[in-house]
Amino acid sequence: MIYHIPWIYTPVRTVLAIWHQLTKSEIPELAKCSVLMRDRGRVEDTIHTMQRAGAGSLQVISDFDMTLTRFAHNGKRVPTTHNILDNRLLINEDCTKKMRELLNTYYPIEIDAGRTAEEKQPLMVEWWTKVHELLIQQRIRKDMLSQAVKESSAMLRDGYKVFFDCLTEQQVPLLIFSAGVGDVLEEVIRQNQVFHPNVHIISNYMDFDQTGVLQAFKGQLIHTFNKREGALSHAAGLRELQGRPNVLLLGDSLGDLTMADGVSEHQNILTIGFLNDQVDERKESYVKSFDVVLVKDETMDVPNAILRHITSSRDNK
Ligand code: TMP
Ligand code: MG
Repeated sequence: MIYHIPWIYTPVRTVLAIWHQLTKSEIPELAKCSVLMRDRGRVEDTIHTMQRAGAGSLQVISDFDMTLTRFAHNGKRVPTTHNILDNRLLINEDCTKKMRELLNTYYPIEIDAGRTAEEKQPLMVEWWTKVHELLIQQRIRKDMLSQAVKESSAMLRDGYKVFFDCLTEQQVPLLIFSAGVGDVLEEVIRQNQVFHPNVHIISNYMDFDQTGVLQAFKGQLIHTFNKREGALSHAAGLRELQGRPNVLLLGDSLGDLTMADGVSEHQNILTIGFLNDQVDERKESYVKSFDVVLVKDETMDVPNAILRHITSSRDNK
């Protein structure tokens, strides 16, 4: 900012600083005590720059499980797309037991603050591969998925409708980039009536045979710590995202930060991280890595406020 340049005459700097404050509308949601920021000034400047560029320059890239969905509700964990499949319509008791054992073994590794992403990578491949093999053995029927989602306690974060509807109204593309199960994810957003035409999904999709029975998973496996590869191979080619150099990224894992690596010539990127679990152990690394960290916040209030600001009229141009 010009008024930070030391040789500018002091009263001129003061006037410029006051003008800057006056023209910069505040986002009160950022003052909530659940919001942590390494550099608040940078966050505000980025939001402001994005607002000046307008909705036409913006794209939103978001993780799904535990980012767009809640982490917990009334003290109980909300199921991820994989865990929604834990329904007798789809899998038997033995499979449930094995999937839970795998979750109890590998989830603590996924969120372990003491291991690097490189250390976690092969273990995540192991977890996803074992789970997908179990699911394939169950001969899951495509026509049962919708009922399983209906019977599940899947829940999007409070304020999700405002989020999806605002992006649709403003014609901003939303890329949902998930290591979950794409077919289940689609059903969750469809049943919540927010699967709008501006929503694009990159995820692990099921491959069904002609009779509608699961026989494999399609394409390259996506897990929490290889999203960079998916970003480069899939997201980079999405025509709807071209020519939108400003990115709002939402995630709950440090691995989610690579979801925007396929965006060529990005100009501004603002990252928002939901810190749901192991707060004390992970706070430092989240604050270092995400621009905005939301601690145990089950709502979309902050992303919605930021979006509202970015897509508001450009009076401050
Ligand atoms: P996400 O990329 O949409 O967040 O989805 C990945 C999450 O799914 C990750 O945090 C771990 C979770 N997961 C399960 O809950 N159960 C499983 O069996 C597997 C393989 C992953
Ligand atoms: Mg997630």
